[in-house]
Amino acid sequence: MSLGKQEQEAIALARVQLEAAGVWDPDNDLDSLVDRFIVRADKQRALDEFRLAVSERCNRIPLGHIVGTVAFDDLPLVVGSGVFIPRPHSTVIHKWLDDARLATGTCVLDLCAGSGAIGLAIARRRPDLRVTCVEFEDVAVHYLKRNIARLATHDVHVNAMQADIRETPAFAGFKHQVGLIVANPPYVPRQTQLQPEWGSHHPSAAVYSGADGLDLTRHIIALATTLLTPEGWLVIEHGEDQAFAVRELFQQHHLLDVSTVIDRESSDTTGTSVMTVGRLSNAVQA
Ligand SMILES: C[S@@+](CC[C@H](N)C(=O)[O-])C[C@H]1O[C@@H](n2cnc3c(N)ncnc32)[C@H](O)[C@@H]1O
Repeated sequence: MSLGKQEQEAIALARVQLEAAGVWDPDNDLDSLVDRFIVRADKQRALDEFRLAVSERCNRIPLGHIVGTVAFDDLPLVVGSGVFIPRPHSTVIHKWLDDARLATGTCVLDLCAGSGAIGLAIARRRPDLRVTCVEFEDVAVHYLKRNIARLATHDVHVNAMQADIRETPAFAGFKHQVGLIVANPPYVPRQTQLQPEWGSHHPSAAVYSGADGLDLTRHIIALATTLLTPEGWLVIEHGEDQAFAVRELFQQHHLLDVSTVIDRESSDTTGTSVMTVGRLSNAVQA
C-alpha cells in the first residue's frame, strides 16, 4: 500500500517522538498505530473487529465506549467504560460563554468534569482563562488526564483536580476566587428507568443523584456561594422538568439574574439541552 507524502512525514515524525518518549519498542508500536489509524493492512482482522464491535453494540454497550473516542465541540476526546460520554447537550454552555464577558485570567471550575469535555472546550474557546476540571471517580479522572495530555498537542490546557464536591474543605484554595463555575452533574432521579446504555453501562454516580435527581445540584449551588467572586457566574445543566426547582434553589442561595436556557438545536433523542444560569450577588460572601 503506497502512502502519500503527508502520511510518510507523520510516520517519520512519530518514530522520532516515540523514541524520544522512551517507548521501548517504537517500531512495533508504530506498526500497530499505522495499522489502526492510517491503513488497515489486514482486512480480515478489520472485518473481525467490525463484527465484534457490532456484537457489543447489540448488547447495548454505548457506541463511544466501543469506538473509544467521541467528538465534543470539535474536540477529539478519548472515552471508555467507566466514564460518562459527553453529549452535544452540553455545548449550550459554550454558546453562553461566547456572549459572557469574562475577563482574561478568570478562574473557571468545571465541577463533575468526567472526561473533561466541558472544561477543555471552554479552554479551547478561551485560552486566556484558567480552567480546572474537578472529578472524583478514579476511572473518570484517568480519562480526564488522558484528554488533558492529548489536547496539549492542540494547545488546549486545563488543570485536573480529583475531589468530591461534597467535601467543601478540599476547595479552600478557591474561596472567593472563581469567576465561573460550570457543571453537568448527574441529575436523573433514582427511580427513573433509562436505556441500558445509561442505566446499566454508565457508572450510576455519573447519572443518578437522589430521589429528585438534584442532590449534587444542591451541593454545587451551596459550594458555589463560597467559591464565587462577587458577581461570579454559576451555570448548571439539568433536566427540562427540573427547571423551576433549580431556579428556586439558585434564588434561595441569593443568586441573581437567574434564567433557564433551553437549546433545541443541541438537544437530541436522549433529551433536551437545558441549563440554568445565575450570578452571585455583590453582597453575599458565605
Ligand atoms: C453527567 S456526568 C458529566 C461528565 C462531564 N461533565 C460531561 O458532561 O461529559 C457527571 C460526572 O460527575 C461525577 N461526579 C458524581 N458525583 C461527584 C462528586 N460528588 N464529586 C465529584 N464528581 C462527581 C461523575 O463521576 C461523572 O463523571
